[in-house]
Amino acid sequence: PQEDLDAIYAFAVDLGRKAGRLLMDRVEQRISGAAAQEFEEKENAVDIVTQTDEDVEVFIRNAIQRQYPSHQYVCTFLHMILGGKLIHDDRFLGEETYAKGQSRDYLIDEQPTWCIDPLDGTVNYTHLFPMFCVSIGFIVAHRPVLGVIYAPFQDQLFSACSGRGAWLNETRRLPLIQNPSIPPMPPNAPAQCILSCEWGKDRRDIPDGNMHRKIESFVNLAAELGSRGGKGGMVHGVRSLGSATLDLAYTAMGAFDIWWEGGCWEWDVAAGIAILLEAGGLVTTANPPEDPETAPIEDVRLGSRLYLAIRPAGPSATETGRQSQ
Ligand code: IPD
Repeated sequence: PQEDLDAIYAFAVDLGRKAGRLLMDRVEQRISGAAAQEFEEKENAVDIVTQTDEDVEVFIRNAIQRQYPSHQYVCTFLHMILGGKLIHDDRFLGEETYAKGQSRDYLIDEQPTWCIDPLDGTVNYTHLFPMFCVSIGFIVAHRPVLGVIYAPFQDQLFSACSGRGAWLNETRRLPLIQNPSIPPMPPNAPAQCILSCEWGKDRRDIPDGNMHRKIESFVNLAAELGSRGGKGGMVHGVRSLGSATLDLAYTAMGAFDIWWEGGCWEWDVAAGIAILLEAGGLVTTANPPEDPETAPIEDVRLGSRLYLAIRPAGPSATETGRQSQ
C-alpha cells in the first residue's frame, strides 16, 4: 500500500523530539548526581552501549508499533524460530535491536523500513560532550526518503522528507545560506573547506581497515593542500564530532563542506542522507578523492560502510521557485 509520507513525517518529527527529551532527562539525572553513567562494551573497548541507548530504542519502537502496527514484525514467533534472523517483513532496523548479531545481508529490501539510532554519539553522551542525537530514518526501496535528527543539548531538530525541503527546527531551510550564487565548492576545494571525518570503532590493524591509516590519509590530504601555500591554498580545518549523524546534518546545513567515514552502519546515516539529499547535497560511497568535484556520485543505496558527503550549493533554480511560492 502507498505510504502517507506527510503523516509519517509529522509523526517522526514529534517522536524525535520526545525521544530527545528522554535523553535530556537522563543527562539531567547525571548532572544532579541522581544517576551515574554506566556503559558496557560491545565489539571492543570503544564500541559502547548504555542503558539509555536501549531504553530510547524501546521507546521509539513501541511508539512506531502503536502508530503503525503494520510496520512491525509480522510474527515474532517466526522471528524466534528463524534463530533471531530478521525476517523480510520486519520494517524496523534499530542499532540496539541489530546488535544481537544478525546478518546484514537482507536488512533493507524494497519494503518501507524504519532505520533508527536512538542515541548517535554514545561516547559523547557518556562523556557529556553535547554532540549526540536521536536519528530516525525512513527508507523506501533502499533509499532514505525521510529523516529526523534531534540534538537535544542544542535543541536542534533537522528534518526532511522527499520533495518537502530540508529544515532546521522546522522554520529555517537548509542549507542555511540560501544564496543561489554560492558555487558547489570553493574553486580550490578542499582548500578553504572545513573537512570532517570520523574514527569509527574498528581498531583492528588490517591493511584495508586500519582507521588510523585512513584518518592519516584524510588529514594528509588537508596538510598537503596546506603546503601548496599561497593565498587561499589551505584547508580551513578538520573536525571530528563523534557523531556521524550530526556530521551529515551539519553538512546539509552547509557548515561542513566535505564529510567522510569508513565504518558507518545504516542507522548512522539513513536520516542524515535523507536530509542532506533534500537540502541539495551529494553523497557517494567513495574514499576522499584528490578533487571532490570529480567524485563519482552514485545512486546511493544503503549498505556500504563507506560514505563521502558534500555540502549543498545554494538552492537550485527549482528550489528557489518553490520557496518564493
Ligand atoms: C557512532 C558514531 C561515530 C561513528 C561510528 C558510529 P554510535 O555511532 O556516529 O561518530 O564514527 O561509526 O557507529 O555508536 O555513537 O551510535
